[in-house]
Amino acid sequence: MDLGLEGKVALVTAASRGLGRAVATELAREGASVVISSRNEEALSKTAAEIREETNAEVDYRAADLTSARDIGALISHATGRFGGIDVLVNNTGGPPAGTFEDLDDEAWQGAFEQILLSLVRCVRGVLPPMRERGGGRIVNVASSSVKQPIENLTLSNTFRTGLAGLAKNLSLELAPDGILVNTLGPGRISTARSESMDASQADSRGVPLEEVRGEFEARIPLGRYGTPGEFARVAAFLASPANSYVTGQAILVDGGMVRAL
Ligand SMILES: NC(=O)c1ccc[n+]([C@@H]2O[C@H](COP(=O)([O-])OP(=O)(O)OC[C@H]3O[C@@H](n4cnc5c(N)ncnc54)[C@H](OP(=O)(O)O)[C@@H]3O)[C@@H](O)[C@H]2O)c1
Repeated sequence: MDLGLEGKVALVTAASRGLGRAVATELAREGASVVISSRNEEALSKTAAEIREETNAEVDYRAADLTSARDIGALISHATGRFGGIDVLVNNTGGPPAGTFEDLDDEAWQGAFEQILLSLVRCVRGVLPPMRERGGGRIVNVASSSVKQPIENLTLSNTFRTGLAGLAKNLSLELAPDGILVNTLGPGRISTARSESMDASQADSRGVPLEEVRGEFEARIPLGRYGTPGEFARVAAFLASPANSYVTGQAILVDGGMVRAL
């Protein structure tokens, strides 16, 4: 299937590694010009060069902290100026810290709100004018399987990812007349630096080997293994493309069947 991404411009946030990087690579492979961003300029520059090398696409980058309104504004101006507009926004963020309700103070709550929800508000607000100018667009949010089922010890994710999914549904209704389709993806267990470090810290706190923790998670996944960033990215690329012309307002899990909810 031709996704129709040739000549489109995509902005992918939190993309120096992991899921964001994989989505940026897939969009580039499909012919989009891509701007990636994260806080670490050196890592970004290296990632952009590697994606360029792998895909032959135009890939640019700009450092931006997603908790800063000023950085987000500058990022969107940069992306719009660099390739003449924005057709696709992939809203990815760093993950919030783990913790039960009683582990978390006001600072942790405020930080997660800014990182997960307010960053999305600011990015969407910023890309609406360029998307409208080009007659439509696609917004894909990277959330978590917690949009469907809470995850133990991840209170902040359970709270703000569901808020994000609610906002995305709201946006899908308001933006449909502009030809802007909005969807949310929920990764289950995908092998990245973050899932590895979360497994390692659980193994540490329980005093068991890392393989035991990973084996327990795999046992809960009907497909029997963690997903790869590439598997996640292919779903994101479809939702972000003109080939997706009738899916909007959905929260879709990429979790190997892990969550049992319908
Ligand atoms: N992997 C999974 O199985 C899984 C499952 C459920 C949910 N998720 C969620 O999906 C998202 C991506 O996960 P991942 O596994 O790819 O994580 P990751 O490997 O830790 O990558 C996170 C990315 O976010 C960037 N980042 C972090 N804080 C940022 C900030 N304040 N401003 C801008 N960029 C920032 C990092 O780059 P810099 O350090 O350079 O800023 C990096 O590029 C996270 O929100 C995670 O919680 C992942």
